[in-house]
Amino acid sequence: MIKKGIILAGGMGTRMSPLTKAVNKQLLPLYDKPLIYYPLSVLMLAGIRDILIIVNKGQLSQFQKILPKNNNLGLNIQYKEQLKPRGLPEAFILGEKFIGKDNVALILGDNFFYGQSFTLKLKGCVKLKKGATVFIHPVKNPNLYGVAKINSQNKVLKIIEKPKKYISNLAVTGLYFFDNNVVKYSKTLKPSQRKEIEITDLLNIYRKKNNLNSEMLGRGGVWLDTGSIEDFYSASNFISTIENRQGFKIACLEEISLKNKWIKIKEMKNQMSFYGNCEYSKYLKNLI
Ligand code: DAU
Repeated sequence: MIKKGIILAGGMGTRMSPLTKAVNKQLLPLYDKPLIYYPLSVLMLAGIRDILIIVNKGQLSQFQKILPKNNNLGLNIQYKEQLKPRGLPEAFILGEKFIGKDNVALILGDNFFYGQSFTLKLKGCVKLKKGATVFIHPVKNPNLYGVAKINSQNKVLKIIEKPKKYISNLAVTGLYFFDNNVVKYSKTLKPSQRKEIEITDLLNIYRKKNNLNSEMLGRGGVWLDTGSIEDFYSASNFISTIENRQGFKIACLEEISLKNKWIKIKEMKNQMSFYGNCEYSKYLKNLI
């Protein structure tokens, strides 16, 4: 069972400058919560409560204000600083001590997921014992992402980062599950042309060993990009539409913790006073 998860929440955020000059992208509001709440909620839905958040050097205090180590969320949160965005697999090199001898999940701090049966799929993925699993999702513009070609058993046959030539419409999302070899393999990676070590090179090591599986988030699921300002606002609108229609919040961390029985009424009340008098606190009050 995978019990540890890493959120990669660094990066330059240059595509969203000047918004990201003073504030890390993952702390910007995606509708009514900081962006990082959404990937964190995914790990929590998977039953993961040991979390390592990797942040840019110098931005630790920004994150700790909203997600302190000493939190009321029933989470064991640790932080590690990344000096430079040297690539996604650096998460496993920086996280070596945190990972120890265990298997681990990775989610990119800017990825948004939603959909019926998503939690069920997550619960399946954390059962991983050997190899790696990627979450894939059909998109209209696969050339912007890592892209996978799979066979009928969901084995990944081919995986290419931002392919110039069409290989499939299946984007590899920013949610991955790895066995413990990931630390060892990450250390062997060499920087690509864009001077980063690449997640696709890491995944290809697993693929060559016939150990790379995929989980499909199909048409009933939602995976949204928050890469550009336009994407960011479309995702915000999506969340606003769903939340205001249903009256349920997407990625309310306290709600997930309460359901997972990681926290009780006392912690809920602590969170309400932490947030102060706001709409989010009113939602928490309604839950109890
Ligand atoms: O979102 C899914 C895509 O993410 C995958 O389909 C691609 O295979 C994968 O390479 C990645 O593509 P991007 O080029 O879009 O990744 P980006 O550099 O934008 O980084 C994604 C997040 O990770 C972002 O929140 C910043 C953070 N990050 C990135 C790097 C390279 C770090 O914290 N540290 C890093 O070194």
